[in-house]
Amino acid sequence: MRNARIHPSILSADFANLASELERIHTADGVHVDVMDNHFVPNLTLGLPVVEALQKASKLPIDVHLMIENADRWAPEYAQLGVDSVTFHVEASAAPIRLARELRSAGAKAAMALRPATPIEPYLDMLGELDMVLLMTVEPGFGGQKFLDLVLPKIQRARAAIEGSGKPIALQVDGGISRDTILRAAEAGADVFVAGSAVYSAPEPSVEVDVLRNLALGGH
Ligand code: DX5
Ligand code: ZN
Repeated sequence: MRNARIHPSILSADFANLASELERIHTADGVHVDVMDNHFVPNLTLGLPVVEALQKASKLPIDVHLMIENADRWAPEYAQLGVDSVTFHVEASAAPIRLARELRSAGAKAAMALRPATPIEPYLDMLGELDMVLLMTVEPGFGGQKFLDLVLPKIQRARAAIEGSGKPIALQVDGGISRDTILRAAEAGADVFVAGSAVYSAPEPSVEVDVLRNLALGGH
């Protein structure tokens, strides 16, 4: 039986009403918070003070996705806020093993993200340092982009490596996840699904979360 957790991205929410936007996704398994610095990606969103406020306001676990340069410097500060997980991009970390250990020792789950063109193979020996791997299924930076099917083989290879490791490592996908694409990602081996525009453009975001989870599990 497959596992499927849905983490809506509040990138597509109304930033002027974040507390009520959290309430609209109360059926979700976590809240995905996209931090962008206008350097690692050409977009700017929010930083430590807003994540701290979200952590206090949210009943759901907070999943922080850092799309920032110099992750080694900044990621531990997010972990110290008490969030559930902190995801850094391997392309922005000089010492990903040390960073993953720092995140865990600060009490957060450690997660590492790869852009669509970054191969997983160089990092397989460090899987044991991680609680989650995030495979981007769009180029990071913006919501509402089209799912990149070319990432599907990498999802399959990552799933095989995770099974081989025998460790309970989650495999997250982010970008272009919708009713049309979620089953493909699930069948390839993903078990945590970020969805921004698909959830927040729905008339009832909390219902859409349940629809997406059911589709990922192979239902209708
Ligand atoms: C993109 C962000 C995503 C984004 C996904 O760089 O990391 O989390 O919000 O949005 P959708 O689901 O609309 O592709
Ligand atoms: Zn994201």
